Amino acid sequence: MDTKFGSPFVTNPFQFLHFPSKETTNWFSKVFLYTLLFFQILGFTKLVSGGHQWDGIIVTQADYQALRALKHELVDFKGVLRSWNDSGYGACSGRWAGIKCVRGQVIALQLPWKGLGGKISEKIGQLQSLRKINLHDNVLAGSVPWSLGFLPNLRGVYLFNNQLSGSIPPSIGNCLLLQTLDLSNNALTGAIPSLENSTRLIRLNLSFNSLTGTIPNSLTKSHSLIFLALQHNNISGSIPNTWGQIGKNTYHLQFLTLDHNLISGTIPVSLSKLGWLEEISLSHNKLSGTIPSELGSLLRLQRLDLSYNAINGSFPVSLSNLSSLVSLNLEGNHLGNQVPEALDRLQNLSVLNLKNNQFKGQIPATIGNISGIDVIDLSHNNFSGEIPDSLDNLANLTSFNVSYNNLTGAVPLLLSKKFNSSSFVGNILCGYDSSIPCPFLSPPQNNPGPFQGPTVKPHHHHHHHKLSTKDIILIAAGAVLAALLLLCCILLCCLIRKRTASKGKNGKTAKSAAALGSSEKEITSGTHVESGGETGGKLVHFDGPFLFTADDLLCATAEIMGKSAYGTAYKATLEDGNQVAVKRLREKTTKSQKEFESEVAALGKVRHPNLLALRAYYMGPKGEKLLVYDYLTNGSLASFLHARGPETIINWPTRMNIAKGIARGLCHLHAQEEMAHGNLTSSNIILDEQINAHIADFGLSRLMTAAANTNVIATAGSLGYNAPELSKMKKANTKTDVYSLGVIILELLTGKSPSEGMNGMDLPQWVASIVKEEWTNEVFDLELMRDAPIIGDELLNTLKLALHCVDPSPAARPEVQQVLQQLEEIKPELPGSSGDEGAGVPTAGDDGAVKLPSSASE
Ligand SMILES: *[C@@H]1O[C@H](CO)[C@@H](O)[C@H](O)[C@H]1NC(C)=O
Ligand SMILES: *[C@@H]1O[C@H](CO)[C@@H](O)[C@H](O)[C@H]1NC(C)=O
Ligand SMILES: *[C@@H]1O[C@H](CO)[C@@H](O)[C@H](O)[C@H]1NC(C)=O
Ligand SMILES: *[C@@H]1O[C@H](CO)[C@@H](O)[C@H](O)[C@H]1NC(C)=O
Ligand SMILES: *[C@@H]1O[C@H](CO)[C@@H](O)[C@H](O)[C@H]1NC(C)=O
Ligand SMILES: *[C@@H]1O[C@H](CO)[C@@H](O)[C@H](O)[C@H]1NC(C)=O
Ligand SMILES: *[C@@H]1O[C@H](CO)[C@@H](O)[C@H](O)[C@H]1NC(C)=O
Ligand SMILES: *[C@@H]1O[C@H](CO)[C@@H](O)[C@H](O)[C@H]1NC(C)=O
Ligand SMILES: *[C@@H]1O[C@H](CO)[C@@H](O)[C@H](O)[C@H]1NC(C)=O
Ligand SMILES: *[C@@H]1O[C@H](CO)[C@@H](O)[C@H](O)[C@H]1NC(C)=O
Ligand SMILES: *[C@@H]1O[C@H](CO)[C@@H](O)[C@H](O)[C@H]1NC(C)=O
Repeated sequence: MDTKFGSPFVTNPFQFLHFPSKETTNWFSKVFLYTLLFFQILGFTKLVSGGHQWDGIIVTQADYQALRALKHELVDFKGVLRSWNDSGYGACSGRWAGIKCVRGQVIALQLPWKGLGGKISEKIGQLQSLRKINLHDNVLAGSVPWSLGFLPNLRGVYLFNNQLSGSIPPSIGNCLLLQTLDLSNNALTGAIPSLENSTRLIRLNLSFNSLTGTIPNSLTKSHSLIFLALQHNNISGSIPNTWGQIGKNTYHLQFLTLDHNLISGTIPVSLSKLGWLEEISLSHNKLSGTIPSELGSLLRLQRLDLSYNAINGSFPVSLSNLSSLVSLNLEGNHLGNQVPEALDRLQNLSVLNLKNNQFKGQIPATIGNISGIDVIDLSHNNFSGEIPDSLDNLANLTSFNVSYNNLTGAVPLLLSKKFNSSSFVGNILCGYDSSIPCPFLSPPQNNPGPFQGPTVKPHHHHHHHKLSTKDIILIAAGAVLAALLLLCCILLCCLIRKRTASKGKNGKTAKSAAALGSSEKEITSGTHVESGGETGGKLVHFDGPFLFTADDLLCATAEIMGKSAYGTAYKATLEDGNQVAVKRLREKTTKSQKEFESEVAALGKVRHPNLLALRAYYMGPKGEKLLVYDYLTNGSLASFLHARGPETIINWPTRMNIAKGIARGLCHLHAQEEMAHGNLTSSNIILDEQINAHIADFGLSRLMTAAANTNVIATAGSLGYNAPELSKMKKANTKTDVYSLGVIILELLTGKSPSEGMNGMDLPQWVASIVKEEWTNEVFDLELMRDAPIIGDELLNTLKLALHCVDPSPAARPEVQQVLQQLEEIKPELPGSSGDEGAGVPTAGDDGAVKLPSSASE
């Protein structure tokens, strides 16, 4: 109850607009309302406002003299005190600038930002009713008057941003009703007074002075204190460990800022008893010891800054309980060990700074789940392992730095695009700079890679056992044997020559070539098999435009194009300048070698103009698996649609052509190959020079273990292409492919990416919701609407078809053959021509208003 009536605003009900909005808390606004209410009840408002008119209330003699003395000692550079010119009758009439009275007694003296110099007279002690003195942002010198201690009603002292010097008079501790003492940003010296009897103190701001001595114990016992700001002084000693001794929630301290002092000792455990704390700033001191794990109980803590101290020990696991935390800064300490894996409970975290410590182990992948994080600085630590791919999910990341650690492997794609090399230097990372491409076979962790030098193993006959079919080998064996031996010799010579040549060029290249040693090559019914020599790699070619050796492949310059649940895709430039796309499958996700080989052989036979052809595969000695595809110049449909400049327009015929291409490819896959794709997304549609669609990644699920496939489906689920039934079924089929195709067609129509937020709806739901409201035109990509008068029907019919494909009920969806047929009926293909009228377009017969297939509307 006390504190309710003890708010700083009591002193001046007219100044409530100065309410410090930044520090507004529920608690505070309640106090304010109660205070206002209280004053209205007592009629104070009326009384005080009466002073504005001349109503005969004359200032008391004592107050008049005090005001004259004040004026006398102040230096009035701007003439604001000229109004203090009569013999006193005007002082309480509202004519004297900065004076407020009640019954002829001055209760407030307020002249901030008035260019006042000189000193504050000790005569101020005569203003016996004074509640508030507010002279901040002037150029006052001299000291803080000790006579303030004679003012029993004093509640607010605002003298910040002046040039006051000397020490703070201890007498101020006599002001039992004091609520705010803000002397910050002056030149005060000496010790902090004990304010043990000021039991209503809410805000103590003595920051930016030159105060010395220690933090008085009494401050740790204050129940009323909310702001304690002592930063930027020369305070020494340790922080008392006597906080919150009686009952956790009866202490109200929310902001504790002690940074930039000379404070030593340890972080007191008792801080954890201050359940209201929102900010702890102890940076730039001389604190040592460990971070008490008890701080994990401060569930309202938003900012914890312990930077630039000498704190050691670990990052306490309990800190991941600080669910309100917005900023965590531990920079410049001696913290070590691992960072706890469960950091994603810090869902509100936006700044994580662990720079300049000795943290080791892996960077927790869970950081990728803290979607709002925008600053991560882990530089100058001992983090090892790879940068987790999950960090690519952080769309709001504006600053990222992992330089000078012990990190290895490839930098996740988006990070490497977004941040320059100074964020990554001082590691063993690759792929963040075009001059540091990633080899396909970077040595996996704790596992000597192929660069370890040649190890002689008797593996040649292994591979012969594993060739495609025994029969062919038997038939071919006799006849080819001689030719084979000859070929072997030629190849060996070639390789040795090449190896010597590449050794001269750069170290890495030379190493991998040497590691592979001699090779041999067989030709069996159009399939070329090359078994890499000493390390036992194996390259199998299907028909294709280029032939290359395992060496060529492993030594190609590579550039990461993208990552998916299956693995990483690279653009590889072979030594002869030819380019191929290489997919390195994730480790430990593929089926056993035998099954893998028979499945991949089937995939290698699939040929269709709208399916990206698999040209070869390579199996490394440690089970690494590379798939080699044609490289197409125009990248993925996803980047074509969503990562273009504002002036690049993609017209309707182009989009329609893409849709038809995908449908044709999928049709071939379903009908001829009897294979479902399982992971059809716009990132998996690759565009060639003429912007024709080629479906990639088809059939990869056949190479994977069941567990890996479940994982792929889960990942794809978050991208927005998965049919709803997949969440239960776990296995893709032609109907789930048709759903994904429908989403891609919607993507082409709307220009929206299915992964972007649409008020919590996925793309089909969003489109359905708009169509339902009969605002169908709002659905389409704006740039398509320019041609709407000509192509309107086509858009509507395509939309209708797409919505049919994304019907929540699998049975209601068409087969892809029907989709293709309908797409072709919508308009005969006329590539390049926009808006061809009279091409026999059948109208939908529903007057332009597309009706949803009934079951899709829920
Ligand atoms: C006192 O100051 C006020 C305001 O500056 C001015 O209007 C008034 O004329 C002055 N009175 C005298 C007696 O100088
Ligand atoms: C304390 O004073 C400093 C300097 O005037 C100011 O920046 C800071 O916001 C103040 N803090 C509180 C809690 O009043
Ligand atoms: C606080 O009040 C007690 C009891 O009246 C008194 O003994 C003590 O000196 C006061 N402390 C200060 C700093 O004025
Ligand atoms: C603290 O003391 C040192 C040495 O006396 C002085 O150089 C420095 O300016 C002081 N810092 C503050 C904030 O007063
Ligand atoms: C985190 O909080 C939960 C529940 O609030 C508690 O059970 C757990 O012990 C806390 N963990 C740590 C490490 O403090
Ligand atoms: C996280 O921030 C949001 C928005 O500022 C807030 O509403 C929410 O309460 C915060 N969560 C926690 C646990 O503090
Ligand atoms: C990293 O660890 C190594 C070996 O344990 C140690 O020598 C080095 O000082 C550490 N570096 C940092 C920045 O902690
Ligand atoms: C992110 O959160 C989701 C859901 O809470 C969880 O399934 C997933 O494992 C988390 N990912 C990481 C990298 O922690
Ligand atoms: C990312 O930043 C934007 C703009 O500041 C904000 O609206 C959005 O909520 C942020 N996203 C997350 C996940 O915090
Ligand atoms: C870097 O990490 C590797 C293993 O990941 C370790 O053997 C090596 O000692 C680390 N180097 C430093 C300087 O910590
Ligand atoms: C990353 O940190 C290093 C070392 O602290 C610094 O030199 C570099 O400028 C930082 N880079 C960025 C992008 O912040």
